[in-house]
Amino acid sequence: MAPKMESHHFFLACLLCLFDKGVSSKGWSMHVPSEVVGEVGKSVALPCTFTHPHKMYDQALTAIWRVKEPFNGLVIFKCVTQNSSDLCRVTVGSKNRYKLLGNPRQNNLSLQIENLNWNDTNRYFCRVEFSGDVHDKYESRLGIHLRLVGVSSKGWSMHVPSEVVGEVGKSVALPCTFTHPHKMYDKALTAIWRMKEPFNGSVMFKCVTQSSSDLCRVTVGSKNRYKLLGNPRQNNLSLQIENLNWNDTNRYFCRVEFSGDVHDKYESRLGIHLRLIAAPRIINISVQARQNHDFHAKCTAEGEPLPILMWAGPLSGNATSVSSTGHLITKELQHLSHDGKYTCVATNSHGRAEGTVYLYKFKAGSGSWIMILFYVALGIKFVALLVILGIGAFYKGDNFMVPTSFSRQPRQESPYKNFNRRINSISQSLSPESRVTNTC
Ligand SMILES: *[C@@H]1O[C@H](CO)[C@@H](O)[C@H](O)[C@H]1NC(C)=O
Ligand SMILES: *[C@@H]1O[C@H](CO)[C@@H](O)[C@H](O)[C@H]1NC(C)=O
Ligand SMILES: *[C@@H]1O[C@H](CO)[C@@H](O)[C@H](O)[C@H]1NC(C)=O
Ligand SMILES: *[C@@H]1O[C@H](CO)[C@@H](O)[C@H](O)[C@H]1NC(C)=O
Ligand SMILES: *[C@@H]1O[C@H](CO)[C@@H](O)[C@H](O)[C@H]1NC(C)=O
Ligand SMILES: *[C@@H]1O[C@H](CO)[C@@H](O)[C@H](O)[C@H]1NC(C)=O
Ligand SMILES: *[C@@H]1O[C@H](CO)[C@@H](O)[C@H](O)[C@H]1NC(C)=O
Ligand SMILES: *[C@@H]1O[C@H](CO)[C@@H](O)[C@H](O)[C@H]1NC(C)=O
Repeated sequence: MAPKMESHHFFLACLLCLFDKGVSSKGWSMHVPSEVVGEVGKSVALPCTFTHPHKMYDQALTAIWRVKEPFNGLVIFKCVTQNSSDLCRVTVGSKNRYKLLGNPRQNNLSLQIENLNWNDTNRYFCRVEFSGDVHDKYESRLGIHLRLVGVSSKGWSMHVPSEVVGEVGKSVALPCTFTHPHKMYDKALTAIWRMKEPFNGSVMFKCVTQSSSDLCRVTVGSKNRYKLLGNPRQNNLSLQIENLNWNDTNRYFCRVEFSGDVHDKYESRLGIHLRLIAAPRIINISVQARQNHDFHAKCTAEGEPLPILMWAGPLSGNATSVSSTGHLITKELQHLSHDGKYTCVATNSHGRAEGTVYLYKFKAGSGSWIMILFYVALGIKFVALLVILGIGAFYKGDNFMVPTSFSRQPRQESPYKNFNRRINSISQSLSPESRVTNTC
């Protein structure tokens, strides 16, 4: 689950907003600011525009950015476009870090640098090359000085993704790294994770390490659920949350405190939004009788995104009704007129689950009914065979008789733990007056 970095927090400051006039040679000029300030962890735009002497040039064009020195500094970004309808295709430069913001066909080579770190402090030079029927090129000699500042004053910064996606039942890592202004700090350090709000949200995890050889000892937080993944001595507070449940959907904030010879602390203000996904799971499936032997089947499933439920059965296609709340959805199949197998299939983009109810009702003479009814829920990965050993389902007036015993073949591991509970719940859901009188 690749975290989405906070690239939307755009930060640009132009200190000396006098762009250099553009040293022109043969009709060429380039316009760049002399300094741009970026914030560690955020992104920054390096503006660069040019003019050229070739009217209506629309052939091959190369945009280049260098660091350190003009003309022979290291090329960090290069893209090539063949004609005015061709996008500038990147040939040098990580797509995650560098993005051409400007349209080179509109004489704009502005570059965005994502996820700034202190190492990006440098001088940047833009260059453009025409290589169609004209061969010509131009590079700014002055360059842009990129100066970096920490997110907070005092040299602190924290790096977290804005969103992390986890799957219900699995574990997820919440990344958090920081920079601090204290050289070689190796005294007491506290790592803290909060939920919901920065600064005053409830602390769900806390650990303390006294020295760099000391492990971070947990003082707050269930050891079964939270585990510090990162090494706080290496400026890494990444936390793992195990066995995710729906309640873990929240915003999470990391914080670090130094309490040795320096007293200093820092907390991320933006936080990580933990979004949960879940493969479908059948929560409940049942058949119920209303007045006049009018049977209806009901299937409830959960999942994120909300699953789509489909009923299939003998002469299906009769009335259904659907309702949903949150990540739960229920679909009812009404007026079951035929005996047989009714299957409810739940699907979403993460998987599929199905549950089956069997309905057998037949008249046992003198106005009494016998109904055999049982069900099995099939998870995604396993098939269970239900064998009825002794069944008596007796329907007379409002009295049901329900299956008395089941046996199942051994099955593969189910991702769901409530399989057995659901098997039992059917007998309870039928009638409180259930009574066993016969077996098959
Ligand atoms: C523009 O360049 C692309 C890539 O070389 C080419 O596929 C396309 O046909 C060209 N379009 C025109 C109008 O020349
Ligand atoms: C160059 O492109 C950037 C990004 O699209 C834009 O913000 C800027 O205004 C453009 N510069 C000029 C001079 O058009
Ligand atoms: C920054 O530069 C230093 C020294 O050149 C290097 O060790 C470090 O890995 C770099 N850090 C990043 C995040 O690029
Ligand atoms: C936390 O602080 C925010 C902003 O100061 C405030 O709106 C909120 O009520 C506080 N929450 C608690 C639990 O103190
Ligand atoms: C932080 O620690 C985690 C877990 O060990 C690791 O996956 C991640 O790469 C670390 N982050 C950095 C920036 O070193
Ligand atoms: C989730 O929260 C609800 C309401 O706060 C609570 O009743 C339930 O037990 C929680 N579930 C878990 C798995 O923590
Ligand atoms: C649907 O239900 C109605 C009412 O019980 C019944 O009359 C009809 O025959 C059913 N249709 C099918 C296709 O089962
Ligand atoms: C299953 O659904 C039936 C019918 O709505 C209900 O009576 C029963 O309590 C439910 N069982 C569980 C375990 O939710």
